[in-house]
Amino acid sequence: MKKITLAIALLIAPAVAQAWPWSKDMSEQISIKPQESVDPDHPGMEPYPEHSIPVPGTTSFVQDMDGADKQKNPVPATQKSVEFGGRLFGIYCTPCHGYAGKGDGLVGQKLVLQPYNLTADHAKGVSDGYIWGMMTFGGAVMPSYANDLSPTERWNVVNYVRKVLQQGGTVQANVNGR
Ligand code: HEC
Repeated sequence: MKKITLAIALLIAPAVAQAWPWSKDMSEQISIKPQESVDPDHPGMEPYPEHSIPVPGTTSFVQDMDGADKQKNPVPATQKSVEFGGRLFGIYCTPCHGYAGKGDGLVGQKLVLQPYNLTADHAKGVSDGYIWGMMTFGGAVMPSYANDLSPTERWNVVNYVRKVLQQGGTVQANVNGR
């Protein structure tokens, strides 16, 4: 019996390994992705017209955490921005970081590396760009939210983390996203 169990385990091991990272399974299909293949020799999307820019403007093409860290927060922390950021935080961040951002979310408790306390001195000391970068690239355990949150939405979340979680503002995170 033990041998059979072992054989089955060995058989499925490569499949399990291939499935990692599971969070990308839906996007990594054989289909042509938006804006894939701009090379005329390999049909796909038409190349961009010369000098055209993306609709949301010239978003910076940040490659890594170092680049993210150096960025200035382009979104003023208005009431509207903080409120919107709070709604997004309620949806995307509370499972791990908890409502107050203390790293005590229910999902976070199951992780080997516990989510950081966003109200701790370390998180208060990092730049806005660093927090934005954590959402963009993820950490050792924390997943990337680059596909879920637009660059601007990420800045709104940064404003919420700063104004409400770290500086004790009054807007509350709302799990229903309302
Ligand atoms: C699946 C759990 C999980 C979710 C969801 C999550 N995080 Fe994290 N976060 C972590 C973990 C674990 C760490 C510890 C660092 C690492 O993973 O490398 C972390 C670290 C961070 C840090 C670094 C803090 C520091 O002091 O260096 C920031 C900032 C952060 N998260 C912000 C967010 C924001 C904003 C969201 C929502 C968009 C979010 N996290 C969603 C798990 C999560």
